[in-house]
Amino acid sequence: MSGKTFYIETFGCQMNVHDSEKVIGTLQARGYRQVETPEDAGLVLYNTCSIRDKAEQKVFSRLQQFKRNGRDKVFGVLGCVAQQEGEKIFDRAPHVSLVAGSASYPRLGEMLVQLEAGNRRVTGLSLDTNETFDTPFTRRDNPHRAYITIIEGCDKSCAYCVVPFTRGPERSRTSESVMAEATGLAKRGFTEIQLLGQNVNSYRDPSPAGWDFAGLIARVAAIPGIRRVRYTTSHPRDFSKSIVDAMDANPVLCDHVHLPVQSGSSKVLRSMDRLYTREDYLRRIEWLKTARRRYSITTDIIVGFPGETERDFEETLDLLDEVQYDSLFSFKYSPRPNTAALSMGDRIPEEEKQRRLVILQEKQRAIQIRRNAQMIGAIREVLVEGRNQALGQWIGRTSCNRTLNFTHPDSGAALTGRYLPVRVTRSGPNSLVGESVTVV
Ligand code: SAH
Ligand code: SF4
Ligand code: F3S
Repeated sequence: MSGKTFYIETFGCQMNVHDSEKVIGTLQARGYRQVETPEDAGLVLYNTCSIRDKAEQKVFSRLQQFKRNGRDKVFGVLGCVAQQEGEKIFDRAPHVSLVAGSASYPRLGEMLVQLEAGNRRVTGLSLDTNETFDTPFTRRDNPHRAYITIIEGCDKSCAYCVVPFTRGPERSRTSESVMAEATGLAKRGFTEIQLLGQNVNSYRDPSPAGWDFAGLIARVAAIPGIRRVRYTTSHPRDFSKSIVDAMDANPVLCDHVHLPVQSGSSKVLRSMDRLYTREDYLRRIEWLKTARRRYSITTDIIVGFPGETERDFEETLDLLDEVQYDSLFSFKYSPRPNTAALSMGDRIPEEEKQRRLVILQEKQRAIQIRRNAQMIGAIREVLVEGRNQALGQWIGRTSCNRTLNFTHPDSGAALTGRYLPVRVTRSGPNSLVGESVTVV
């Protein structure tokens, strides 16, 4: 390996992004230096996602591209495609020497030793684990906002989803370890913390303290120096009233909840095995709407799940009217290996899925235009994330997770990382524009 250098590319959710931060920290602690291009690296790592078929297909074409510029390089595939395809990756891409899923990252050090010793078939594929990947070396990408994993894996079995197969069983970290990490981050100047897990609200402290998710967020939010705490993703079944109460009690817990519904039809939800009905879901939305603060609510929706009728789809559209989401991610159902939905009949044709997706997105766009316009004139505190030189604007994020770009009289000021009040002056479907104000 030439001078112990590595290059890493990451796809997928925030869990993957944060896993890569931990992998990078672990490699650096072992004397590897990160480089910006695969050409310059001795070790080329690819952290993959397999949530939809497109994401998976990309992996193999990218691996072929990597191969073209590397004779004596070592290639590794990490993440969800690695776990899903396992040793088959060695057959399909023989230049690959390491295949490891996230449940094996606690053993990353050992795997590196094997690679360094010249082993060209190194694997980390066991899902049989209670371990979480806690590393003191995590190299953070952002100097103000930090991710903390609180729970790994997933014990649910949604009929469309690969995650239980790619990330293993649910494992919560001890509250002590989460609090130590959060406190350490606050001392180093981080002000925003984002708690991560595929299903954060099923967090259950394995230590005798036994905190639940509501208890954990309340305590993380009380750490001196922490100004914002976010969390993602919540599963509606495990989203309890005590979480809303904890949020109401401390505005450090941001004004935003991402609560993926997937479908507005109880029939579809049942065949997805989501463990809640439309009515159960709407009860949770009601808790948020009648809370002391106004919360932004966002969601994920799948269109074209097997058996979804026009009527079912209309129930989803109707749910959008009822909830008035601030934003949503929408996807066409993609059949995935190992999942229960794979053998379900009544597949929806691709053109029909596409038609439904467009209708859904247009409806949501109109809702967002209206909702964002209602914010004109309001003053919101933003965390400044950077500057857009071309537009002459600073990039800010509100507690309710909106992008609010703004002008500031002192264009030479160093504002990144600061919290500033901004008045909203214009709105679009996906962001807001404003000007910084001095609050007296
Ligand atoms: N744990 C989260 C979801 C994580 S995956 C939850 O339970 O809500 C992120 C999103 O990808 C899901 O919410 C779902 O909308 C989408 N998704 C997952 N599997 C999919 C599939 N097979 N086809 C299309 N979209 C999918
Ligand atoms: Fe997938 Fe369901 Fe687990 Fe979310 S809760 S990760 S959708 S199986
Ligand atoms: Fe993708 Fe794995 Fe995340 S499948 S969405 S990277 S958990």
